[in-house]
Amino acid sequence: MKIRKAVVPAGGWGTRLLPATKALPKESLPLVNKPIIQWVVEEAVASGIHQVIIITNSLKRPMEDHFDRSFELEYVLARKGDTKMLEEIRRITDLASIAYLRQKEQLGLGHAILVAKDLVGDEPFAVFLPDDIIDAPVPAMKQMLQVFERYKCSVIAIERVDPEATSRYGIISPKPIAHRVYQVQDLVEKPDPAEAPSNLAIVGRYILTPEIFEYLERTPPGRGGEIQLTDGLKLLLERQAIYGYEFEGVRHDAGTPIGLIKATISLGLKDPEIGPELREFLRSLPVGTSEPAARTPK
Ligand code: G1P
Repeated sequence: MKIRKAVVPAGGWGTRLLPATKALPKESLPLVNKPIIQWVVEEAVASGIHQVIIITNSLKRPMEDHFDRSFELEYVLARKGDTKMLEEIRRITDLASIAYLRQKEQLGLGHAILVAKDLVGDEPFAVFLPDDIIDAPVPAMKQMLQVFERYKCSVIAIERVDPEATSRYGIISPKPIAHRVYQVQDLVEKPDPAEAPSNLAIVGRYILTPEIFEYLERTPPGRGGEIQLTDGLKLLLERQAIYGYEFEGVRHDAGTPIGLIKATISLGLKDPEIGPELREFLRSLPVGTSEPAARTPK
C-alpha cells in the first residue's frame, strides 16, 4: 500500500533552543539557507509523499507563511529581474499539499500524532520529527518505505548511540532479522543507561499503521507526564509486529544549539555556493586552543 501522507509534529515550544525560539518557531530557524521545516517537507516529497499534515500551535504562524504565496515578494523579485529566486520562491509554495492542525494542549508526541487521526484516516502514514535532520544519499524515509513494502508493518528509524546517551531517546530491544532490519521486541522511552535494553535509539522517522491511533487513545501519560509515542507503539506490539531500520545516513539534532551549528556546518560544506568559502573559513580558525590567539600567554 502506498504511503501518501506525512504527519509532522511541530507543536512544541522549542525550549532546548531558547531564547532563540522565544518568539520564533524552531522549525523556522535557518539551516544553511532555508528553514528547518522546508528540509523536512523536501525529504517527504523526495520520498514520494506529497500530502503533509503539520501539527502546529498558536505561535507557529511564520512556519505556515513560509509555504504560502507572497505576491508582494514575487512582485519585487520580478521587478528586480531575479528570476532564479522568483522560481525558487514559487517552488516552495507548490512543494506539497500542506494542511495545518493545531495541537491545543502540549500533551506529548503521542498526543500530537493523535491530533492527525481524522485527516490521516484508515491508512498507513509517515511521521517526520523536524528536530532530526537526516543527510543521506537516499532520503531516510525512502529507505524505510522499502522496508515497509516488504513487511507491511510499522517501521521506525533507528541508530546506534553512545550507551551513556540512552536517556535522551526511545530505545528498542532488537532481534536482528535482515541487513539493517530488526524486529522490535520491546520499546522504552528514555531509559537510564543501566535499564536500557540496547543502544539502538529511535530517530524521528516512522511509518505507522493506522491501528496506532487506537492504541495512542489508550496510552496513559508516561515519561515527563506526556503521552509518549514510544508507549503507544509498545501497546501496538501486542497486536502487530514493528520493525526497526538502521538507516544509511547522518542524523543531526537540529533541536539544540550545538546540533544546529553542527548541521549548519556539515550541510553548509556540501552547498555548492557556500561550501568552498565555509571550508576556507574553518581552515583559518585556530584549532586545539580554547583561548583566542590574542590572549595566549607571551
Ligand atoms: C522523541 C521520541 C523519542 C525519540 C526522539 C528522536 O523524543 O519521544 O523516542 O528517540 O524523539 O528524536 P524528543 O526528542 O522529542 O524528546
